[in-house]
Formats: sequence, structure tokens, C-alpha cells
Amino acid sequence: MKDVYIFAIESSCDETSAAIIKNGKEVISLSIATQIKVHENYGGVVPEIASRMHTESITYVIDDCIKKSNMKMEDMSAIAVTYTPGLLGSLLVGIEAAKAISLVYNKPLIAVNHIIGHIYANNLDDNKIMFPTLGLVVSGGHTEIIYMEKDYDFKIIGSTLDDAIGEAYDKIARVLDLKYPGGPNIEKIAKGGQPTYKLPIPMNNNSLDLSFSGLKSSIINLVHNEKQRGNEINKANLASSFQTVAIDELIRKLHLAFDKYEVNNLLVAGGVSANNYLREEIKKLCNKRSINLSIPKMIYCTDNAAMIGAAAYPLYLQEKFVDYDLNGISTNKKYII
Ligand code: KG4
Ligand code: ZN
Repeated sequence: MKDVYIFAIESSCDETSAAIIKNGKEVISLSIATQIKVHENYGGVVPEIASRMHTESITYVIDDCIKKSNMKMEDMSAIAVTYTPGLLGSLLVGIEAAKAISLVYNKPLIAVNHIIGHIYANNLDDNKIMFPTLGLVVSGGHTEIIYMEKDYDFKIIGSTLDDAIGEAYDKIARVLDLKYPGGPNIEKIAKGGQPTYKLPIPMNNNSLDLSFSGLKSSIINLVHNEKQRGNEINKANLASSFQTVAIDELIRKLHLAFDKYEVNNLLVAGGVSANNYLREEIKKLCNKRSINLSIPKMIYCTDNAAMIGAAAYPLYLQEKFVDYDLNGISTNKKYII
């Protein structure tokens, strides 16, 4: 079969990214422009600023990606773009750029779901999704345990009933006066601490569902109470305590999921999969249960267009192309995949 080259664009949140992916796997070229330094000043992503900055950097990122590849747009088999979920203004910048390229170069257009992109980051480079598999999706907006029997077949078997784990990381970072994005900064200070604070264990039962808002609120209350009493908080110990409880809970639920499903593959997806404590604990679980583990390389864990190209590949093979009436869907729907 002829090699398939997908030119992919991602702009759903605060990273503008373009990539060229060969046969759903090989990263020929990847460019990412991050806006973190700007949003850091506001303690989170400001949608209006995000879309304006995407507009400023999209052509630069696309040109840079093509230049680094030594290929031409004419060589591409298709153009792929993230259309949901995300910030509407941000999504639209990528979508309109993708439509323009598709029209000018007469290439089919593929619409990709961002969360499915995170999942398919597990097909990049040396990784390969092996079916059937369980998957742990841990991002800023999602915390789900999924079961996949084949490509694009997602069964959600457990999900957070309230906050996503990344959201909890970000909100707890804020009360500890740590910069956005909270996840990596909590991880950093937790390294110098011990899990000395007693915190409630979320959803301490045998269901596969999860919950992080009680844990988050108990930490916010604890910080406020201690401040009112004039007591110092040991931030490193509190960050370590939160991380230990939250991640141990994910691991406990994964054990339950593997008890229920006779599967010996696990993939991990989403921004929180960049967390080293989570990566180590998951490795231990997989060693203990002889499970094949797939976690994307660090660079493919957070938002990037390479994962969008990987997720577009099965759609390309099935000729699932879209028209130019493609629109962005920001969505508050709980389950998007
Ligand atoms: O998947 P992602 O890039 O965005 C969504 O698609 O939602 O995930 C972003 C989330 C943020 O909540 C961020 O704080 C968290 O991933 N994150 C981390 C780490 N790196 C990013 N959380 C914990 N530890 C990290 N090292
Ligand atoms: Zn993401």
C-alpha cells in the first residue's frame, strides 16, 4: 500500500501545533508553540487571549512544520484537525486553517476528537495499541477508564462523577499559590515532601467510577482553616499527600478493572500521564499483573498535533472525510468519546 502522510493541526486549548505523520505512526515533523508563559500571569487559560495567540502563530507553526520535514503540502494524503472538545475560539483557528489547506491543495479533510488524539498518541514511534485493551484517560477535563476491542471502539467502564484529575491538580495548585499549569508544579514540589496529611479517600468502594471533588474541597478547606488560625502549611507535604491519595485511587480502580476484564494490555492517555509518580505506579501494577503497558513519550502526553495525525489515520483508511461545513464543538457533554 502507498504510504499515507497526514498533515495534522491542533489548537484546542493553549498550544498551537502542526505535525506530519506517516502511516499513523512515524513523526516526520512536529511543531508546537505554547502559550503557557502568557496564561501563567492569569492563573489559567484566558479563552480570548488563547484564540488571538493561535491566530498569530498558526501560519508560522504550519510553515515551520513543513520546512522541518523536507516535504511539500502536495505530498500529503490528507489534512486532519481537532474539532472537539476545546475552547471554541481556539478550535476555530485550527479548523479554518485546515479547511484552507485542504481546499487549496485539494486534500481530503479529517475531523479528529482531541481525547481520541490523546489515546492514539499510543501509536506513535515505537508504541502500538494492542487490542483488546483497557485505557486510562487522565486529562484536564477527563478521567475515564475505557475498554477498547478494536480501533475507534470506546466503551467507558468507569468515569469521574465530578472533577477530572487534572482539574483537581490545577485547582489545588492555585490554593497553594503555584503557577498554571498546576499539574507539573504540584509534582515538582511534592518531590521534596512526604504524604503526612490525612486526606479522605475518594469513592472508597468497588465501583469503577471515580471522584476528585471531595478530595479537592477537603484540601481547599484545610488550607483556608490553617491560614485563619495563622498556621503555616507545609506545601510540599500537602502536595505529596494529595498526589499520593489521588493516584493511589486511580491505581486501585485499575486493579478492579483488570479483575473484571480479562485483558492484558493497558494504555494511558492525557496530560496527567506526564506525571512521573503515576507512570511509576502504573508500571508497578503492570509488572505485578503481567500486563503490557503503553504510555506515550512525554512530548506526546501533553497537547500536540502528532497525536491528532495518529488518530486521523484509521479514519483515513475508512475514508471518513468531512465537508467544509465542519464546525468546532466546545461541548460540556460529560462523555465525548
Ligand atoms: O490532556 P491535557 O493536555 O489537556 C486536556 O486535553 O484536558 O491535560 C492538561 C492537564 C492539566 O490539568 C495539567 O495540570 C495536567 O494535565 N498535567 C499534569 C502534569 N502535566 C500536565 N498533571 C500532573 N502531573 C504532571 N506532570
Ligand atoms: Zn489535551
